[in-house]
Amino acid sequence: MGLSSRHLLGLQGTPREDIQLILDTAVSFKEIINRPIKKVPTLQGKTIVNLFFENSTRTRTSFELAERRLSADVLNFAASTSSVSKGETLKDTARNIEAMKIDMVVVRHGAAGSAHFLSRIIDANVINGGDGQHEHPTQGLLDMYTLREKFGRLEGLHVCIVGDILHSRVARSNIYGLKTMGARVSVCGPATLMPRGIERMGVEVYHHLDDVLPTVDALNVLRIQMEREAGGYFPSLREFHRYFGVTKERLDRAGRPITILHPGPINRDVELSADVADGPQSLILEQVQNGVAVRMAVLYLLGTQS
Ligand code: CP
Repeated sequence: MGLSSRHLLGLQGTPREDIQLILDTAVSFKEIINRPIKKVPTLQGKTIVNLFFENSTRTRTSFELAERRLSADVLNFAASTSSVSKGETLKDTARNIEAMKIDMVVVRHGAAGSAHFLSRIIDANVINGGDGQHEHPTQGLLDMYTLREKFGRLEGLHVCIVGDILHSRVARSNIYGLKTMGARVSVCGPATLMPRGIERMGVEVYHHLDDVLPTVDALNVLRIQMEREAGGYFPSLREFHRYFGVTKERLDRAGRPITILHPGPINRDVELSADVADGPQSLILEQVQNGVAVRMAVLYLLGTQS
């Protein structure tokens, strides 16, 4: 039994069995990366290109580490130091790189649909490392892995995604994935940062954080995306923090243990107070660790398909 697709472009429409297989496979890889010798020969002889047109800390390093731990040959491509700065298109860049006989591409790009586009024009397996405001499937998978590891299940779990939903590819991938796995999903944020018609994705919508906290098991707190001008959607960061900031005081008032996730990078004391980010309820660094195992699972499952 393998994955039903040659690519991982998003979690919208990804079957439950595929998600289950990736999460179960990641359990074995997490065990491997905690051994003294963390490398396995699984993808020896395969060449993987990390094609990053947008900045990244976690996703790029995590993919690179996952690729190297699977013994693949790795080529890192940064748009800022490439011929993209001379006007070369995504299509020409990808075709030229593919001509060097590569097997897989991880792509991050500011345009929604860029990973789908690449999958149509090149033969290599394509993994979406974040495309504009559309999807970030491996982030959704590592968030689900982290929740499943903590709670032992996803079915019936109440997860609320908080903050800048409008600009968030992480929110979309989490909603699609969690709904497929049977979780209860809500979103909470100012009306101006809520995509129109989001209810149609099967989520509950809240505009007051204190209303959702009494029933929630986990909060996935999103970054305010200043680079996408999210700061223009509410009066001030101070006001955002007052109404939607996840603080220790607010969590204490909820009267139940609430697990905290954040995909990073964090705007400390804007969407999440520093004491909560670093506190016992936070699984933020576990997310980062699990990201390597989940990405190893995705690369292994795609790279060993017959
Ligand atoms: N979570 C995430 O995508 O972080 P980076 O932008 O650092 O990759």
